[in-house]
Amino acid sequence: MTILWSLDPRVSETYRFALGGGVAVLTHAPHITKAVDESADQHLVVIGLDIGVDPACELAERLRVDRPEVGVLLLRQRIDVNVLAQALRSGIREVVQSDDQTTLADAVRRSEQLTAQLVGEGAGRGDRESHGRIITVFSAKGSVGKTTLSTNIAAHLAASGARTLLVDLDLMFGDVAISLQLVPAGTVSDLVGMRGHLDRAGLESVVATHEQTGLDVIAPSSDPADAERVPADVILELLRTARTHYTYVVVDTPPSFTEHVLTALDVSDLTLLVATLDIPAVKNLRLAINTLDTLGASKDSRVIVLNRSGIKVGLDVDEVETALKQSVSVSIPNDLGVPKAANRGYPIVVQDQRNPAAVAMRELADQEVRARFGEPVEQGPRRGFGRRRSRA
Ligand SMILES: Nc1ncnc2c1ncn2[C@@H]1O[C@H](COP(=O)(O)OP(=O)(O)OP(=O)(O)O)[C@@H](O)[C@H]1O
Ligand SMILES: [Mg+2]
Repeated sequence: MTILWSLDPRVSETYRFALGGGVAVLTHAPHITKAVDESADQHLVVIGLDIGVDPACELAERLRVDRPEVGVLLLRQRIDVNVLAQALRSGIREVVQSDDQTTLADAVRRSEQLTAQLVGEGAGRGDRESHGRIITVFSAKGSVGKTTLSTNIAAHLAASGARTLLVDLDLMFGDVAISLQLVPAGTVSDLVGMRGHLDRAGLESVVATHEQTGLDVIAPSSDPADAERVPADVILELLRTARTHYTYVVVDTPPSFTEHVLTALDVSDLTLLVATLDIPAVKNLRLAINTLDTLGASKDSRVIVLNRSGIKVGLDVDEVETALKQSVSVSIPNDLGVPKAANRGYPIVVQDQRNPAAVAMRELADQEVRARFGEPVEQGPRRGFGRRRSRA
């Protein structure tokens, strides 16, 4: 999104050729700094003719310090040497004659290239890592496929090359480790002793790594009674620390709103809500959605996944969507290969590439996680299931 600083809200039409359609016209400098502060994706500010050179330079100086990757371009009717010198000293990238749309389009392209380089260098220094994404897989009903989905999505993300951690927050009956045939090095309960000073080394001391995919896993203690001894703030610290070291942190949950689950939902960038084609699952999901609304969770960060679709039980996807008042984003077919793979302890997404449920789970991870968070995703052929059309 490009910000155009001008007192005239209609001015975006004038520069449509050079700036494209995604332009927000803002009238005051504080609105611009706020918009830039609030979104890491804000990379270009174009300053219109009706803004003085001094305020334009002040904004550029501030952005140069706070957000050096944000490009600032200044539009003027005529390019005067003094204005040019003052502008470049303040950090404005280019001064462009306002009636020359081709030159403006070129300047925008050069600015984008420079920004991409600066963002790339930042990522190299670990800045991007500090914004790892937390994806929580939840349903208030048991046995709908939360563990299946979280395990397979995390395995696929890891196999695609992203540093990925799977956290099993089903602290009483978690079965992530067993479904991946892992022997945990430590458990979530061990983190209680590191409370207040959990760091990378602490995390590494409790993770087990799934060799085939490189996925790291943190499992709960095998004694269900230990669950109560894990305070919610330990989970918060775990997730916050994890997101600074991993690109993706996937969280599997028990089928209820425990305080640990609420903590995870609160810091999640994406919640995958799992439904199946049965009335209790849909009713529980509706209640879960109401609870998330009450908690003030953003609707944009929720995706409804219909698992085990295709079984003929008298309920269809449209009825589920009507009951949920929300569209189903992805359907995962019912397939016998899924429990078979779980029983053998391997993630079906990497082991059986052609299995229809595996294909749909990979597509879920690719589109709703990787692409959503800006990762380039190689496009496969359309497969007839997986992503559904929008209900709009
Ligand atoms: N798409 C699918 N097709 C066929 N079987 C599936 C599918 N998804 C999950 N299952 C099977 O359903 C059962 C329950 O799945 P899973 O353990 O993932 O559910 P859950 O929601 O994590 O359950 P719990 O609430 O007990 O933790 C498992 O045997 C699993 O293999
Ligand atoms: Mg489970």
